[in-house]
Amino acid sequence: MPKHSNPYFKKKTSLTRISISLPSDLLTKFDDSMVRAGYADRSKALQTAIHSLIDDYSWKSGDNTEGAGALIMMYNNHVYNQDKKSTRIQHKYADVISASTHVHLKDDNCLETILVKGDIRKIRDLAKHLSENRGIKSLRVNFVSVV
Ligand code: NI
Repeated sequence: MPKHSNPYFKKKTSLTRISISLPSDLLTKFDDSMVRAGYADRSKALQTAIHSLIDDYSWKSGDNTEGAGALIMMYNNHVYNQDKKSTRIQHKYADVISASTHVHLKDDNCLETILVKGDIRKIRDLAKHLSENRGIKSLRVNFVSVV
């Protein structure tokens, strides 16, 4: 059985203890948000925040990183036959697309979720190509770099 699929295998990570200085009001806001988000301790909440920062940077920078995520797109299908355009673009990027779903909403609106995995630059290109179409009402990217 490969290690990653064995529920009893836990990768050991070495931990480093750090000390940081923060403005008091920022720490109060952080603690409030942490509790509301359901974190039991600051370490775990900070780790998540740090991961988000790294993912955000990876997405924006031109680094050659691998990642995975979801593109969520809403569009009006009446504008220049957006369905066909979306499909045509997705065929071009088939090597980074793992799956996609299409939901028909009210009127001529459609919602597509495209699950992606692979070269971050190619995924960014895909998002750019999709967003250039006139029928797109919104395009959101949720992306995590694979570390
Ligand atoms: Ni539809």
